[in-house]
Amino acid sequence: VLLNHGRIDADEMSIGSRVLPAHSSIEDGHLVIGGCDTVELARRFGTPLYVYDEAGLQEQCEAFARAMAGGPAGSRGLYAVKAFPAVTIAAIAHGAGLGILCASLGELRVAQAAGVPASDLVLHGNNKSEDELRAPVSRLVVDSFDEIDRLDRLGIETTALLRVAPGLDAGAHEFIRTGGVDTKFGVGMGQAVDAANRLVSIPTVRLAGLHAHVGSQLFGVEEHMELVRLMVPFLREVSEATGVELRELDLGGGFAIAYTEHDPPVASPAAVAGEVLGHWPSDLGLILEPGRALAGRAGVSLHTIGTVKEVPGIRTYVAIDGGMSDNIRPPLYGARYSFFLAGRADAPDEQAVRIVGKHCESGDIVAPEALLPAAPSPGEVLVTAATGAYTWAMASNYNQIPRASVVFCRDGRATEVVRRENTEDLLKLQVR
Ligand SMILES: Cc1ncc(COP(=O)(O)O)c(C=O)c1O
Repeated sequence: VLLNHGRIDADEMSIGSRVLPAHSSIEDGHLVIGGCDTVELARRFGTPLYVYDEAGLQEQCEAFARAMAGGPAGSRGLYAVKAFPAVTIAAIAHGAGLGILCASLGELRVAQAAGVPASDLVLHGNNKSEDELRAPVSRLVVDSFDEIDRLDRLGIETTALLRVAPGLDAGAHEFIRTGGVDTKFGVGMGQAVDAANRLVSIPTVRLAGLHAHVGSQLFGVEEHMELVRLMVPFLREVSEATGVELRELDLGGGFAIAYTEHDPPVASPAAVAGEVLGHWPSDLGLILEPGRALAGRAGVSLHTIGTVKEVPGIRTYVAIDGGMSDNIRPPLYGARYSFFLAGRADAPDEQAVRIVGKHCESGDIVAPEALLPAAPSPGEVLVTAATGAYTWAMASNYNQIPRASVVFCRDGRATEVVRRENTEDLLKLQVR
C-alpha cells in the first residue's frame, strides 16, 4: 500500500508497476500518465478515453529497432499496426527505425498517411484482394496456393515471403493461436517446398524467404528460440530444394505483455531480438513483427462509473460508460485486466466487484471479478491498464455507441490524436 501524498514514480510503485505505462506516477492519489492527471483528462476529453504514454511507446519502438539493427543484412523490425492502427503510432514506429506490417489495404492507408514509403511496408493476410496483392510494398507475405495462382495469373510483380504454418502449439487461447497445422494461415510445412517451387517458377515473383508466426502472448524467449531451431534448418531445406538461396526469415510477432501482476515475467521485444540474434546465422536477415508488445502497455482506458448495483448476498455490479464496444477482448476470449480508480490510485483494493459495460448484452462483462478500493461510486473514473493494443483497433459501434477518442500524453501535454465519433458521424453512413 502506498502513501497518500506526494509523487510516486512507476518504478517505485508497488501497485501496477508491471501493467501501467512506463511514464506513470501517482500524485496526491491521482494516477498521472505522461505527466497528465487522468482525472483531469477524463474531465477534459470525456470518457471512454484511450490514454497513451507517448514517450513510453517511442522508447519501446526505439529499443526494439536498436536491437534489430544489430542483425545481419536484411534484418528488420516491423510494428504490426493491427494492434493499434493510428497514424501517430505508425509515424513514431517508423521514426524509430521500424517498418510497418499491415494486414489490409486500410492498414496500408494508415501507414501511408504516416509517411511510410513502400520500401518500409510489408503486407500479410490469408485472403488478400486483388488490390492488396497489387499494393506497393517491400514484401508480400504469400499465404496459400490460391494466392500463388492469382499472382501468376495476374502477372503481379512482387518480392515474396512464403508463410508456413510451423505446427507449434503456442498461445493462450484457441482463437488467438495461429501456428498449428489446423489453421487458416499459411501452407503446412509438408507443402512448403511445392509452394516455394511454384513461386520461384513465376517470372514476376522473387521469393526472398519464409515467414512463420506461432501465436500470441509468448512470454519467454524460449518459445521464440524453438521457432528459430525449427525454421532456420527448414529454410535451408527449402533453399536447397528450390535452388534459390532464401536470405530472409520472418518469425512473426506474438510477444507478450503483462495484463495483471500475476502474469509470468515478460521478455521485451528488444530482449527477444537480442537473444535470437545471439544465435543467428550471419547470412540470414531476421524479421520480427510485434504489435501488442510495442503498444499494449503504453495505453490505458478511462471510463466513468455510472450505476453501482448491489445484488444482495450475491455481488456488486459496477457499470461503466463503455464495454464491449471499446474493448471486445474480455467477452471474445476471456482476457483479464488490472483496474484502478484514477482519483484513488494508491488506495488498497478492498472490494470484489463485477465490472460490466453499458451494452444491451449480458455477456458485456469487462471483469467477472475485479478488486477495487472500497465503495467505488458513480462519477469516479475507472482505469483499465494495458489496453494499448487490440482495443481501439477492434472497437465497434454496437448499440450505435460512437468510438472513443485517443489522447497521447507526454511531459504534461495531452494531444488528441483520434477524435471521438458522435452519433451524427454514424448517421452519415446511412443512406436514406
Ligand atoms: C503474422 C502476424 N504478425 C504479427 C502479429 C502481431 O502479433 P502481436 O501483436 O501478438 O505481436 C500477428 C498477430 O496476430 C500476426 O498474425
